[in-house]
Amino acid sequence: MDKIQAFLFDLDGVLVSTEHNHFVSWQHCAHLLGIPFSQKENELLKGVSRIDSLKNILALGNKQISTDEFESLLKIKNDFYLDSIKHINQSNLLPGVLNVLTVATKKGILLGVGSSSKNANLILEKLQIKDFFKVIIDGNGVKNPKPDPEVFLNGASALGVEPAKTLVFEDAASGITAAKNGGFNTIGVGNPHIAHLSDIYLDDLTQFKLETYA
Ligand code: BG6
Ligand code: MG
Repeated sequence: MDKIQAFLFDLDGVLVSTEHNHFVSWQHCAHLLGIPFSQKENELLKGVSRIDSLKNILALGNKQISTDEFESLLKIKNDFYLDSIKHINQSNLLPGVLNVLTVATKKGILLGVGSSSKNANLILEKLQIKDFFKVIIDGNGVKNPKPDPEVFLNGASALGVEPAKTLVFEDAASGITAAKNGGFNTIGVGNPHIAHLSDIYLDDLTQFKLETYA
């Protein structure tokens, strides 16, 4: 592995414990559609954009709906989700996150966020960690969502660092695939289902040793 100059973090499930909120919100929509939806099916949605997530749920139930119904369900999901995170704050950061951001900043590593979420800026503000990041690429800024590498390639390019010298932190199969497709080094975190896909797997960021990489 080249000497690492930049870190790109996924948001949901890596920096903050919001994956469960996404799951419960989609479960609510799946219930309205009469489609069974458990943690197992949710694994396919992790890291996936809002639109593609709903398409996946409809495919699971082999169901077709009108464009108006589709738009209305996207709104129901996001309203449900935003309501569920309205009290989110720094205590919802996942273990080790604040320490990794702090020591990496001290060491001069450039930090960025690469998230599929259109709510990323709002959440980073609530978590009070936005100022750590030189670049935030979110679901509003990409044409091709994960597993396409666009979100991470845009992030690395904005930081002026090559993918081979950048470490991507991800909790989702779609995100690890996106990073690999872009030529990045990957750390899988907090989701044993992706351990086999990642270059390195950690249960949480308390296990991350900066001196190994930079
Ligand atoms: C990803 C989550 O970070 O963002 C997905 O892992 C979510 O579960 C996606 O669907 C889109 O999020 P949002 O906030 O734009 O609906
Ligand atoms: Mg994630």
